[in-house]
Amino acid sequence: MLWIKAFHVIFMVTWFAGLFYLPRLFVYHADCNDQTGHERFLVMERKLFAIMTLGAVLTTVFGLWLLLQWHWPPLELWLQIKLALIAALIVYHVQCGILVRAFRAGRNRHSGLYYRWFNEFPAIILIAIVLLAVLRPA
Ligand code: HEM
Repeated sequence: MLWIKAFHVIFMVTWFAGLFYLPRLFVYHADCNDQTGHERFLVMERKLFAIMTLGAVLTTVFGLWLLLQWHWPPLELWLQIKLALIAALIVYHVQCGILVRAFRAGRNRHSGLYYRWFNEFPAIILIAIVLLAVLRPA
C-alpha cells in the first residue's frame, strides 16, 4: 500500500505542477502581442497540458486503487469531501484544456488579470485536499 500511496503523491505533484504553471502561461500569453511569442506559448501550453493530463490520469489510477482496496465504501467524511474537491479539480483541468484550444484558435476573450485570479483556484484545492488527506478530521 505504501508504494501505491507514494506513486499517488508523486503523480499528484506532476499534475499540480501543470495546474499551477499552465494558467501562469495564460497570464503572459494573454498579454503577448507578437506572433513569435504567441506561437511559442502555443507549443508550451500544448505540451504542458499533455504532461499534466498524464499526471491527472495516473494520480486518479493510483487514488482509485487506494480507494477500492482500503477505503471502499467511502464512508469517512474527509474522504467524501476530498472526492467532491477532486471532482471540482477535474472540471478545472478540463476548463484549462478548453482554454488551450481557445488560444490556439485565436479565440481567447480574457485578460491577463482574469488568468491571475483563475490561477488561484488549484492552490486553494491543494491546501484543502492535503489537510483533509493528512489530518483526516472525523
Ligand atoms: C483523483 C482521485 C483521487 C483518489 C480516488 C484519491 C484517493 C486517496 C485515498 C483513498 C487515500 C488514502 C490512502 C490511505 O489509506 O492512507 C489517498 C491518500 C492521499 N491523497 Fe489522494 N486521491 C485522489 C487524488 C488526490 C489529489 C488530487 C491529492 C492532492 C491534492 C491527493 C493527495 C493525497 C495525499 C497527500 C494522500 C496521503 C495521505 C496520508 O496518508 O497522509 N489525492 N488518496
